[in-house]
Amino acid sequence: MPKKLVWVFSKRYIAGETMEEGLLASKLLNEKGIEVTVDILGEFITTLAEAEKNRDEYLEVIERFTADNVKGNFSIKPTMFGLLIDKEVCYTHLREVVKFAAEKDSFIRIDMEDSQCVDMEIDIFRRLRTEFPKHVGLVLQAYLRRTESDIIALNDINNKNYPISFRLCKGIYVEPEHLAFKGYDEVREHYLTDLKYMFENKMYAGIATHDKYLVEEALKLIEEMNIPKNMYEFQMLYGVTPELRQSIVDGGHKMRVYVPFGQQWFNYSTRRLKENPKMAQHIIKALFIRG
Ligand code: FDA
Repeated sequence: MPKKLVWVFSKRYIAGETMEEGLLASKLLNEKGIEVTVDILGEFITTLAEAEKNRDEYLEVIERFTADNVKGNFSIKPTMFGLLIDKEVCYTHLREVVKFAAEKDSFIRIDMEDSQCVDMEIDIFRRLRTEFPKHVGLVLQAYLRRTESDIIALNDINNKNYPISFRLCKGIYVEPEHLAFKGYDEVREHYLTDLKYMFENKMYAGIATHDKYLVEEALKLIEEMNIPKNMYEFQMLYGVTPELRQSIVDGGHKMRVYVPFGQQWFNYSTRRLKENPKMAQHIIKALFIRG
């Protein structure tokens, strides 16, 4: 697919290429009562020099966004910091970023990547959470067969004063059947089991989905279990299902939008297109049929 065409599609899902564009998009969301989690695009690295560059870019972005009082936090993919090249180097870079975020009273969310990264990302999270309990959280993927037991195991570092903070999503990578549930309903069912466990065990839950059914079921759980507002939030991707997003905000629930920006928008967009290829058809149609 030509790059220019992918950009036509991407504009809706990506705040832009520069930090200034990311800032502007975040501030506009803040004005609508929505918080953000900022993601710098660019995840396929092959050298530790690139990992260092990415770390520095995050430090710069945290400095700038916190100085501008943007209401939000930051999401990081550990492979961008060299996870698959040298785990300890990755840990050191992440620690530096989390420490800096903690100094700014901000927060880092460790995104969960494909299954080869899960053990390492949980391990890095455990170490950072011990040192910075209020300033780091992890993503968990409901489609993985292991996730239920991962949440139960992580309960040992949960703490009433500093609840452990998870973002729960369905999971975006293509995984083999022996590792991941494949049925649509099966993933939904596990999503709700995981969420319920988090609520029961007083964990902070970032409910990251655009699935109306899951949103409705989550709202039911929140009501039935009398979950206080400071123990959950909803999360959505930039540009996706804005009407559903607004209805959640109107209902008085906290909403956070994942705001990606950076030069690597092409890879990000191609992944989103693969996830939802129908979108491309609509966009191509709209190029020809106006009005
Ligand atoms: P589902 O894919 O079933 O979509 C439900 C409905 O939402 C669709 O029917 C459609 O109407 C709409 N929709 C969904 N995607 C759309 C799109 N691209 N364009 C237009 N409409 C769309 N994954 C991961 O593996 N690691 C991670 O760290 C994260 N992080 C993350 C953060 C946040 C804030 C969100 C919302 C999601 C993630 N994800 C993720 C991605 C997640 O795992 C999942 O792939 C997507 O959110 C899609 O799943 P849904 O729950 O939205 O359901």
